[in-house]
Amino acid sequence: QAHMVSKPLLLLLLLLMHASSEVLLEKVGRAGVITINRPKVLNALNLPMIRQIYPQLKKWENDKETEIVIIKGAGGKAFCAGGDIRAVTEAGKAGDPLAEDFFREEYILNNAIGACKKPYIALIDGITMGGGVGLSVHGRFRVASEKTLFAMPETAIGLFPDVGGGYFLPRLRGKLGLFLALTGFRLKGRDVQRAGVATHFVESKKIPDLEKELVDLKSPSADDVSRVLESYQNQSSLDSEKPFVLDKHMSDIDSLSHSLCLLSQTLARMSPTSLKITFKQLQAGAALSLPDVLVMEYRLSQACMRGCDFYEGVRAVLVDKDQSPKWNPSTLEELSDQTVEQCFSSLGEKDLTF
Ligand SMILES: *[C@@H]1O[C@H](CO)[C@@H](O)[C@H](O)[C@H]1NC(C)=O
Repeated sequence: QAHMVSKPLLLLLLLLMHASSEVLLEKVGRAGVITINRPKVLNALNLPMIRQIYPQLKKWENDKETEIVIIKGAGGKAFCAGGDIRAVTEAGKAGDPLAEDFFREEYILNNAIGACKKPYIALIDGITMGGGVGLSVHGRFRVASEKTLFAMPETAIGLFPDVGGGYFLPRLRGKLGLFLALTGFRLKGRDVQRAGVATHFVESKKIPDLEKELVDLKSPSADDVSRVLESYQNQSSLDSEKPFVLDKHMSDIDSLSHSLCLLSQTLARMSPTSLKITFKQLQAGAALSLPDVLVMEYRLSQACMRGCDFYEGVRAVLVDKDQSPKWNPSTLEELSDQTVEQCFSSLGEKDLTF
């Protein structure tokens, strides 16, 4: 009878149901399975989700009964289309600590994925951008399908390619990563693997079988996981003959990106501050470990929260959707090296620590 359930208990149950519904954390066989479960917003990542995933990942990492971790997105369209950036800028305007906590805790999770001692397998079978890249690219295995759409589009919203972009992008071949970072260029399907963002390509319709085979593995090593992924990849011939979309442009990309000015025509839509920060971020990141990159990026995130382009970019692209942000400063020339330099300076006791 309904009246038998006390009001506080009912509230607690509702809270629990709500809290657990945005991300599912399940043990399937000997695998820990994370399902990002906000399909209506393309599985955008928010702070409550980060706060559920991180402790569970650490628990599974130290649990003898758990041998691998799988992460995937619900709904069939997106793995994760990015962080819930709109909430972050609203918090920034209101002086709410979410604007610090979101980046801090997201980057701590990105680092934990990079350091995960057990095989971590991201099934990026759909849109994978920004924060979604941070949930996958640092893991040991990333499986793309023909439905994967990858981008780091942050320079268009006055941010920079964070979540460890400063680590993985400069490690792609030539200047490909810098190109992807500055332009937000979208890679699709097999090209996500060809670029080195994914480790494997498996046709979308085969991914449920792949997942089943993975969770059924008995005491799998990374090599065992690798063999299963390779065998599914070998059965996926879709687009295998198609050349990499940027093949013809790679020599241009490699020579262009020595100078931002040469790229400036293509990049007219992007925040000049974002472009300069990103250029320097990737240059520095090429020689840093993932944790050190994330410390740098946390400083940059807070510099963006103090500035104006991030708010303006989110307004123009995500809120009003007029697609015409008014950047300040509006040109690269107006932005001094000193101003850019300041974005990289230490936050003292507010610096990110692991
Ligand atoms: C996949 O194909 C490659 C190339 O044909 C072959 O060398 C490899 O052994 C195959 N791997 C599996 C697991 O079937």
